[in-house]
Amino acid sequence: MPHIPPLFSVFGTNSLTNKHSRNRDRGPARNMSIKFEDVGKVYPNGYEGLKHVNCEIEQGEFVAIIGLSGAGKSTLIRTINRMHDVTTGTLTVDGVDVMSLSGKALRRFRRKIGMIFQSFNLITRTTVIRNVLTAFVPDMPWYRSAFGIYTKEEKMKALECLDKVGIVDKAFVRADQLSGGQQQRVALARTLAQNPQIILADEPVAALDPVTAKTVMDDFTRINKDMNITILINIHHVDLALQYCQRVIGIRAGEIVYDGPAAEVNDAVLKQIYEGGEKEE
Ligand SMILES: Nc1ncnc2c1ncn2[C@@H]1O[C@H](COP(=O)(O)OP(=O)(O)OP(=O)(O)O)[C@@H](O)[C@H]1O
Ligand SMILES: [Mg+2]
Repeated sequence: MPHIPPLFSVFGTNSLTNKHSRNRDRGPARNMSIKFEDVGKVYPNGYEGLKHVNCEIEQGEFVAIIGLSGAGKSTLIRTINRMHDVTTGTLTVDGVDVMSLSGKALRRFRRKIGMIFQSFNLITRTTVIRNVLTAFVPDMPWYRSAFGIYTKEEKMKALECLDKVGIVDKAFVRADQLSGGQQQRVALARTLAQNPQIILADEPVAALDPVTAKTVMDDFTRINKDMNITILINIHHVDLALQYCQRVIGIRAGEIVYDGPAAEVNDAVLKQIYEGGEKEE
């Protein structure tokens, strides 16, 4: 895969791409396909969150998951990084049954999967760059994490990730001084710093105004295209889903009722997802 330069470099030609970061900028090195085979999820209270889910998502896809509130969108994406356990069927990521993972192997696996939430989950009382640097904490020796000591390479990488989402100029601003859209971009930069192969985004634009939501969707699109990172996004804005994503998965009451190109989502499909019309075979 060709080397992808940083997108909005304010530091001039390649000043942020030293030989270390260059290697990591090549995007995912391997294919981490996600495969649900007859997956079911029953919550401890007996509620069936997912029923007979079958689908396969290839490396580099940009997929929107849509459906009514309570349909199971969050449940679906959270099974992928084992935030939720599946109870029946098999979910494999990169050929590995995620339910077989535990301890160190599970932690290593989770590092390859970034997670973005509606609420950004930033440490608001510290700077933007420190927020991004937290992505390195799991791989650091305890004394460095205890004292917040980061290497030059880690700092360069953090700046590079902020550069990719167009807010490197905010690196030394306190996170709580940023707008919602900018905070979501910090969260995205922090996720990129972990070098994920997959990003799971749970309603990342739900708290944003329509214009800002589009800028964040533009960031996702660029990251998806330039870095070949798989992106799964739960989203209530159907118009944004259809505009930005190639593939749409429609979920209703824990079941996939549509899985196909965004271009083929019409009124009948939306009715089936949101109003419970006849399931298409
Ligand atoms: N921990 C839990 N225990 C029991 N039921 C749960 C739990 N978490 C979620 N559910 C139920 O599972 C169903 C799916 O929830 P989920 O959060 O996946 O929906 P969603 O499609 O993401 O909705 P929203 O659009 O509101 O975020 C809901 O009916 C919810 O009440
Ligand atoms: Mg949800």
